[in-house]
Amino acid sequence: MVVSQTSRGDESKQKSSGATQPTSAKGTTQQDHKRMMDLLNIKELRRGANGNDRTAPNAANYDESKANPNPTLPDPLTLRNGKKVTTAEMWRKERRQEIVEDFDREVYGRVPKELPKVGWKVTDTKNEEVGGVATITKKLIGHVDNSSFPKITVDIQLTLTTPAAAKGPVPVIMEFGFGGRGFGPPPGPRAAPTWQAQVLAKGWGYAIIVPNSIQADNGAGLTQGIIGLGNKGQPRKVDDWGALRAWAWGASRALDYFETDPTVDAKKVGIEGLSRYGKAAIVAMAYDERFAIGFIGSSGAGGAKLHRRNFGEQVENVAGSGEYHWMAGNYLKYAGPLTSKDLPVDSHELVALCAPRPVLISVGSQQVEGGWVDAKGMFLAGVHAGPVYKLLDKKDLGTTEFPPQETALVEGEIAYRQHNGGHTTGPNWPTFLTFAERYFKPTAP
Ligand code: GCU
Repeated sequence: MVVSQTSRGDESKQKSSGATQPTSAKGTTQQDHKRMMDLLNIKELRRGANGNDRTAPNAANYDESKANPNPTLPDPLTLRNGKKVTTAEMWRKERRQEIVEDFDREVYGRVPKELPKVGWKVTDTKNEEVGGVATITKKLIGHVDNSSFPKITVDIQLTLTTPAAAKGPVPVIMEFGFGGRGFGPPPGPRAAPTWQAQVLAKGWGYAIIVPNSIQADNGAGLTQGIIGLGNKGQPRKVDDWGALRAWAWGASRALDYFETDPTVDAKKVGIEGLSRYGKAAIVAMAYDERFAIGFIGSSGAGGAKLHRRNFGEQVENVAGSGEYHWMAGNYLKYAGPLTSKDLPVDSHELVALCAPRPVLISVGSQQVEGGWVDAKGMFLAGVHAGPVYKLLDKKDLGTTEFPPQETALVEGEIAYRQHNGGHTTGPNWPTFLTFAERYFKPTAP
């Protein structure tokens, strides 16, 4: 699955009867979605944009002249009390906390204060060859202690591949994968080396974490997985975490493991993902300051794209029953009665939470990938995160002009590149690795 058609489709008004008994995961999802609307006192949600039918009355907007109905964004450098943030310390101690609190409460949800410990075990070790490089691959399971609620088991799946000849700890790029391999087209004959081979060619290692082993990708699963375990099987409260934050939490637990593995340089771990996992990657990067670099692929709505933009996917789509589980319940409010302009934060501030660390915002071409992900909306989030990076003595994107396709803006710590392909990070890997090399000195293979 690359881009799910259902969520681009014309989800009928988010009114649910509530009378039908859940007979399937879909039924349970719909019931939970309705339950959340009831908790929030919402009768009806506005319809999402229709990305499939250009003649539909609610057809997604792809006209740039209509894309910015709300050009005023929250200022990342003004405190809630109106005071200007003028020092790195004020950013770190005051403003950053405010922004985190807003994202927690209204957008991605809160991680419970107390969660059970994760115990990591290597279940298999293999010597292999990837792209002509001798490697060691460890298969790992991160078992979450469920003694407090044994009905729910969470076993996080992770693989770690490092060059066999490495003389010491190496940088590692971790991908949110899909069942053990990358999320994207199935492997086939290709001209360019795989991303894994490209990473190994730098002398680095790579890891793949399986999001679904942390938290299911649907609303029915919210009483299971790590979110369910944290709630002892009870449904979510309005500000409880959603799947994006849960996937990011899992990535942080993998990073805990890397800190104990002598083959990994845990200070040089990058995080990468595409689409919904691109959203998870920027959430992981924003919240966990131990991640050294982020490669954020076509993350779109709920990711790096500005929520306030009217181009492609909208808040109303993400608040629908097919996607709401990614977010906090409170996010539904912005699809009725409130709108995106009422959000106390926007995605430029999510990028700003990554500061001062380097982050590459990646997207495919408008012709091939389409406009659903809103390439310019993600670029603008990068632009408007700039003042925070500058305050921290780092470089911003260097321009406010949307660049032509295949222009790598990689001079600063916020980077952007739109490649000429589809819904994939594939063609941007060489750019990302060159960018990362500036921060991770290559280790001799
Ligand atoms: C849909 C959805 C996007 C999401 C994508 C994905 O297109 O609308 O928000 O990123 O699916 O496949 O993850």
